[in-house]
Amino acid sequence: MRIAVTGATGFVGGAVCRAAAAAGWEVTAFGRRATADPGHIGGARYRSWDIGGKLDDPPGVDAVVHCAASATDTGVAREVWRTNLLGTHHVVASFPGCRVVHVSSGSVYDPYRPTVRAKEHEAPVRRYLNVYAAAKAAAEQLVLAVGRDPVVLRPHAVYGAGDTTLLPRLLENLRGTRLLVPGTGTPLVSMTNVDSLARACLLAAAVAAPGQRVFNIADSAPVTIDWALRGLLASAGVRARPVYLPAWLLSPFARVFPHGRLNRYVISQFARERTLDITAAIDRLGYEPGPTVFRGGCAD
Ligand SMILES: NC(=O)c1ccc[n+]([C@@H]2O[C@H](COP(=O)([O-])OP(=O)(O)OC[C@H]3O[C@@H](n4cnc5c(N)ncnc54)[C@H](OP(=O)(O)O)[C@@H]3O)[C@@H](O)[C@H]2O)c1
Repeated sequence: MRIAVTGATGFVGGAVCRAAAAAGWEVTAFGRRATADPGHIGGARYRSWDIGGKLDDPPGVDAVVHCAASATDTGVAREVWRTNLLGTHHVVASFPGCRVVHVSSGSVYDPYRPTVRAKEHEAPVRRYLNVYAAAKAAAEQLVLAVGRDPVVLRPHAVYGAGDTTLLPRLLENLRGTRLLVPGTGTPLVSMTNVDSLARACLLAAAVAAPGQRVFNIADSAPVTIDWALRGLLASAGVRARPVYLPAWLLSPFARVFPHGRLNRYVISQFARERTLDITAAIDRLGYEPGPTVFRGGCAD
């Protein structure tokens, strides 16, 4: 297989490059920055490309795995739309002849209600709490409408070595030895190991799954928010414990400070169940999920 990977300098894209290279695939890695660490991208050929514009001379590939995005819940709206929607349009237009595997997000499910073992048809919805989720939902629709042979993957809460998003964002809410978290810690959450997601991307690039285009991707079983947070903190060597703040208490502040760290999106993610049904990926893509395990041990 020959694949192109966008966002290769990032957390997920790097894992996809390494997994594809380890499988003996020919990989062209794309990132925005001028150069990339060869180890991060599995020794793949690297090219710099800002997806704010179309690529002039795309390599011949069988599939493109599109991981590039502005992965922020407090980003500037114009930049998030430019990268996540217009950028996706440019990726599809630059590789018109091959399958597009679009790495989307579980954030496309309804933020106003608990996500309970959500099935793929339950998104998109009419309203979102931030521009990131809205742009990810719009990009999915674009890829499904105009992409040739598109596959959309929806991971949730991706974790693992080299995490640029989940853990760093959590640590912004560290106050001494206390991690401030909305809610009670008891809701269930589907976590996604980055290596499992990378394997799912390779399956999505290679496997024909007629009739279904969108797949949730997560670990084999949900865990509680509290268990996940303790495991993430332990894996990072951070001596801290979660301290829970009632959502009803935080919500008025989140309305006044919509771009604060404990914003409405963050409250909706932590204070409610966010679990995904992964049956379709298992049955139709041959996805094999593992349990949620954190490097350096579990939460117990
Ligand atoms: N991490 C999670 O928990 C999570 C959960 C659900 C879904 N996802 C999805 O997974 C995908 C990857 O996320 P990630 O965690 O790997 O994010 P990340 O580490 O921040 O990586 C983002 C990548 O996108 C590239 N990029 C950003 N703007 C670009 C532009 N204008 N042109 C070209 N490349 C650009 C970056 O390139 P440079 O670094 O070279 O600038 C980087 O390679 C995203 O689509 C995200 O929505 C992530």
